[in-house]
Parts: sequence; structure tokens; C-alpha cells
Amino acid sequence: MQRTPLIAANWKMNGSAALVEEITLALVSVPTEGADVLVCPPATLLRQFPTSVNFALGAQNLNQEKSGAYTGELSAALLLEAGASYVIVGHSERRTLNAETDIVVAAKLTAAVEAGLIPILCVGETQAQRQQEKTQQVIARQLDAVYASQPELLAKSVIAYEPIWAIGTGESASPEQAQQTHAFIRQHLAQYDAQAAVKVKLLYGGSVNADNCAALFLQADIDGALVGGASLKPAEFAQICLAVT
Ligand code: G3P
Repeated sequence: MQRTPLIAANWKMNGSAALVEEITLALVSVPTEGADVLVCPPATLLRQFPTSVNFALGAQNLNQEKSGAYTGELSAALLLEAGASYVIVGHSERRTLNAETDIVVAAKLTAAVEAGLIPILCVGETQAQRQQEKTQQVIARQLDAVYASQPELLAKSVIAYEPIWAIGTGESASPEQAQQTHAFIRQHLAQYDAQAAVKVKLLYGGSVNADNCAALFLQADIDGALVGGASLKPAEFAQICLAVT
């Protein structure tokens, strides 16, 4: 297989020490060959996971500065020390609710890579942008903001396509819609680094669940999923992980 699939859980501002135990138990039976599994809990829960888990841990955000007077913020180094090896960057909720611009997203992604974290860059359009047929234009802008000046970062990144209209709505993009955009993303990335564009993992995110995941995973350019709501149900998340292998 050209790319090892990755199934990632984004708990957002949910979860608890009890859920840490439950998901750890539910994932014990998921084979580690064939796919990578990642859980991104709130950062305060990273240390609650046993060190022996058979999946990777990630954070949902980082600050682009290395250290200093940034009350309430977490640097890449702090997240690494807490056990994270991945970090989600530029999730649409942060772009919208925390006013993260493309420039800030690019700085965060750079800081993550420099520190040795694997960034998962989120891109995606709103419902209105899709209706105006601006999906590709919006995504190209989001990708260009990061990779146009630093194409070498692509080989160290994972990218998640998360159409905003599909997040938390129960209305996933259809496998065909998702594949079309994933193919566009891979093609667009080839201009920065053709080899890295073939190798980069492209995850789909937006109302992925145990029922719709298999059809999404069959698509040529979909290499896994970034799962929100369904990742809070350990048995269902384990099923999604099993569906990709
Ligand atoms: O990052 C995951 C995400 O935004 C999708 O959330 O709840 O639609 O699976 P959900």
C-alpha cells in the first residue's frame, strides 16, 4: 500500500479520565499493523493515558512561540513532553472561534514541524462557499498559505479535508464529493513537491461514523479519517479503525 491509513480521534473539548480508560480498552483489540491510530484528547488528559497504549497521542492546538509570557498557551515542546506526537493545526473551529488566520496557521504548523510534532493541517469550505463553487479556491488558499513559501513542510505533514458543512451535522460529504476534493488537494500539492504529494496522507473529517466510513475509505485519495463525535464512543471508534484495515 502506498500510504498507511491513519484514523484520528479529535475529542474537541470533551472527554474525561474515564473515557481515557474506556478508549484505551476498546483499542486494545485493534491490530497495529495496516493502519495507524491516533487519539487527540484535550491536552490535560494526555498524561492520563498509560505509556503502553497501542496508538499515538496528539494535541488539538499549539502556540507557535517556543516559550514565554503567553498565559494559558501550550508550546510544541510542552505537548511533546506530555506524550503528543501529532498536533491538529488550523481546525475550522479554531479558525472561526479563535480568529486563527492563514498566517497564524502557517506559523503554528512550522513550529510543530520544527519541534518534531506531526501536524494535521485542516482545510475545508463553508456551505456558502461550496454553493458558490469556491471549494477549490478556498482550499488552494489555505494550502498555499502554508506550503507556497515552505514546500519542504509537506513531506512532514498530514492534511485533513473537513468541509465545514459536514462537521457535527450528521451530513457527511458523499464518498464521491470527498474523493473529488481529495484528488484536487493532492494535485494542487504536487506543485510544491510532487513526491511528497503522492506520499502525504489525506484524511477526511465531517460526520464520519461506523456506518459511512467503509465507503469513504474505498476512495483512492482518502487515507483515513479525522473523527469528532463518533470518537467519543470507544466501541464505534474501534469499529472505524477496524474498517480501514
Ligand atoms: O476534527 C473532527 C471534526 O471536526 C469532525 O467532527 O463530529 O463531524 O465527526 P464530527
